Amino acid sequence: MHIQMSQSCPQYAKRRLCLSFNNNIIMLVFVIICGFLTVLVNSQERDCVNKYSGEKGKCKPLDKCQSAKHDQRYHIKPEFCTNNGTSDLKSQEVCCLQGDIISKLDSTLLSILGSDSLCLLFQPIHRDPEEPLKQGKKAWDMCIKYQEDFFSRRLNDSISIGTGGVFAQRGEFPHMALLGYGKIFSEAEFNCGGSLISERFVLTAAHCRYSAGLGYVTIAVFGIHYRNETAEEKYIYGVKKIIKHPMYKPPKKYNDIALLEMDRRVIFDFLVMPGCLHVGDRVDDGRAYGTGWGYLGQSMVLAQELQTIPLWKIANDTCRLKFAPYKRLLPDGIDDSSQMCYGDDGTPRDTCEGDSGGPLQIKSTSIYCMYVIIGVTSFGFTTCGEVGYPGVYTRVSNYVPWIESIVWP
Ligand SMILES: *[C@@H]1O[C@H](CO)[C@@H](O)[C@H](O)[C@H]1NC(C)=O
Ligand SMILES: *[C@@H]1O[C@H](CO)[C@@H](O)[C@H](O)[C@H]1NC(C)=O
Ligand SMILES: *[C@@H]1O[C@H](CO)[C@@H](O)[C@H](O)[C@H]1NC(C)=O
Ligand SMILES: *[C@@H]1O[C@H](CO)[C@@H](O)[C@H](O)[C@H]1NC(C)=O
Repeated sequence: MHIQMSQSCPQYAKRRLCLSFNNNIIMLVFVIICGFLTVLVNSQERDCVNKYSGEKGKCKPLDKCQSAKHDQRYHIKPEFCTNNGTSDLKSQEVCCLQGDIISKLDSTLLSILGSDSLCLLFQPIHRDPEEPLKQGKKAWDMCIKYQEDFFSRRLNDSISIGTGGVFAQRGEFPHMALLGYGKIFSEAEFNCGGSLISERFVLTAAHCRYSAGLGYVTIAVFGIHYRNETAEEKYIYGVKKIIKHPMYKPPKKYNDIALLEMDRRVIFDFLVMPGCLHVGDRVDDGRAYGTGWGYLGQSMVLAQELQTIPLWKIANDTCRLKFAPYKRLLPDGIDDSSQMCYGDDGTPRDTCEGDSGGPLQIKSTSIYCMYVIIGVTSFGFTTCGEVGYPGVYTRVSNYVPWIESIVWP
């Protein structure tokens, strides 16, 4: 008879002694030896300290740790034990506590840690909007769904790779898309940005649907950090359909917003995840971030590395003054309800604007760890790098019903 004994032999005992044997008696003897070894090994478990709760624990394999298994159900990443400061990836031992973390971290600690830290270890938490939503219920619910997806992926990642799981700069804006023009990838030029907002759709500016001399947008690339890096094939998608806003009438700058349908379902991973739409709820949008591989200062060199540019909200009145009505382009001046200005705080920076079509975003304070796209980069002055010149962004919340009708019909 062939008996598997590994069941009764804990992983952390000397496995070699616990292989299968053909004899029941020998088996019994080994059960005893294994049990003895287990006690021995247990007594040698290293101490560790959980850095979130400050509690002492013991290093144990993940599957033998009740607290980690419990935490996992709440999408809390286990804390891996380190060996003399280096992560002990092979053994995948976790710092095992008597109880689970969530019951130990009280609300005070949560408020100190803040929502960013919650991204590192917690379950997908969200708060309801302060006031009932007037629109965008569907987009809001999808944001929560993507958030849950994001967390389960992070958890998977932390277990399979065993890293601390802190946001690398790469992957910090996983909704960011680079848009290309040209028949084939190797010859394409990449002149616009966009934001992934669902499994199928990229949000961009309507003027990005076409690039003079190059034709219509054909390619969207996700998961890249350097403009010049060789994107993996799995991150390159074709544009199947371009849906510009029906009221976009170039050369007028109004309703500069469009949706691009991808040629296949976008596979989410650690580097590729949708961003959320601002549905018009109250948000803290005084400062937002523009991202893109845009122009660097006055030298007008395109950035190779993805740039993040902090931008400040400009009052509606000021915005209208900066962009006075202008002939065929802006006959009625800035339209507050569908356009907005964001600009610098008076300090010259070496970055001035992201690519057209790219997102203007804030961190959500309601749906933790998600970005909320509040604007689409539309146009600005060409004098980059000089202070006091805001850019104009399409106001996303004004277009939520239209976006929902196409993206989540
Ligand atoms: C780890 O640290 C212990 C004691 O601090 C030391 O005895 C051991 O040699 C170290 N191991 C390695 C691989 O540096
Ligand atoms: C997590 O990893 C497992 C095994 O590799 C896989 O089957 C599962 O689909 C992954 N889950 C997610 C959400 O990626
Ligand atoms: C991409 O650009 C960066 C910054 O200019 C440079 O350091 C890097 O070597 C470039 N990579 C390739 C593949 O050209
Ligand atoms: C600017 O215009 C938007 C859209 O009409 C409006 O929601 C917002 O309250 C205005 N801001 C101010 C400060 O009046």
